[in-house]
Amino acid sequence: MIKKFLDLGFQPLANKYLKKPKKLSKKNNDLYRLEVMFDTKTKLVSLKKKIPVKKMFNDKYPYRSSMSKTMPLAFKKLSKIIKKRFNPMKILEIGSNDGALIQNFNKDKAICVEPCGNLAKITKSKGYFTYSNYWNMKLSKKIKNKFKSVDVIYSANTITHIENLHNVFKSISYVLSDDGVLIIEDPSLLECLKKVSYDQFYNEHIYLFSSIALSNILKEFDLEIFDIEKLQTHGGSLRYYIKRKKNNFLQVKKRVGQQIRLEKKFKLHKFSTYLQFKIKVKKSKIRLINILKNLKSSNQIIIGYGATAKVTTILNYCEINNKLIDFFVDTTPDKKNKYVPGTNIIVKKYDKNLINMSRYLFLGAWNFKNEIFKKEKKFIKHGGKFITHIPFPKII
Ligand code: TYD
Repeated sequence: MIKKFLDLGFQPLANKYLKKPKKLSKKNNDLYRLEVMFDTKTKLVSLKKKIPVKKMFNDKYPYRSSMSKTMPLAFKKLSKIIKKRFNPMKILEIGSNDGALIQNFNKDKAICVEPCGNLAKITKSKGYFTYSNYWNMKLSKKIKNKFKSVDVIYSANTITHIENLHNVFKSISYVLSDDGVLIIEDPSLLECLKKVSYDQFYNEHIYLFSSIALSNILKEFDLEIFDIEKLQTHGGSLRYYIKRKKNNFLQVKKRVGQQIRLEKKFKLHKFSTYLQFKIKVKKSKIRLINILKNLKSSNQIIIGYGATAKVTTILNYCEINNKLIDFFVDTTPDKKNKYVPGTNIIVKKYDKNLINMSRYLFLGAWNFKNEIFKKEKKFIKHGGKFITHIPFPKII
């Protein structure tokens, strides 16, 4: 049975930055209802309403993996691990974005899949074989015809963005060599619950995996998780190493059982846990609004730092407008001088002088806290403060 546990109200598409603030309407399909569900059988957490893929991932997709220092560094480290551990003849990346990972591999060993034309253009221009297509069986067959099979498939923050999980894993299994390895990484449901980061829910994050749910789903395809790594990226992610069950050359590491036990200890397999989460989310909203209102009552300028997709969920759920947050700063070129979806808050190009206009920055990109705090050492030294909602709204 699929049961609802959270309603984050009507929301716009999280990455649809507009040049002019527009009153969005349900009638024009500008808004959808963001409700989060729990499947009591598979234990999978998913969004109720799935947005058509072409509306989300098209040639205007603004997100770029290379926009932080953290992600390219993490990808460089991972590429070394993949080469050392699996030494692939062919690596396929599903959702290669601007090539932040794949650029660490030889061009003749790599295949990119990226449906957003603006991003696919970047890897193509660097000489990487890139399919500008959505991941599905048709594409998997095309790749198998051309390359026979691939021995490593990697996908970060993409599998959970695709509605038909059955089709996803079937297509992966079709092209993966018998002793091949699938590596996927996505935000961890456990971390989301612990951090009350309800902003992990937005239209692109159709699913939020736990290792419990993922193991259950993989069974259908005779696939299994044989290793798990905990990552700091995207506010706490898990990297799953997956193989065919019949592949006995790769041992299932103890870490897999440990992670599943940890999730069970936190009762991620029980619906009641999600009802408690819902209460925490409501409290978080009230507290964040109070902090912002209090600061505004003493005429403080508040600047948002990092216009993440997650921010769209927070601002729309908490009904925060430019009376509470003056504007955002962000390093992404495609977000510059546009408005956070569903709000009248403009995003300006990151500039140190802008930051220094204010004593209070709302940490939108909380998942890059370490990188940002390092970058803004001077701001902090001179008494500047950050407002964060993780794990509970406070000024730090
Ligand atoms: P991110 O949290 O990776 O993703 P999502 O949009 O999926 O929630 O987005 C980080 C955003 O923060 C991205 O728009 C770039 C921006 N950013 C800055 O503006 N400055 C910084 O120093 C960092 C680290 C990120």
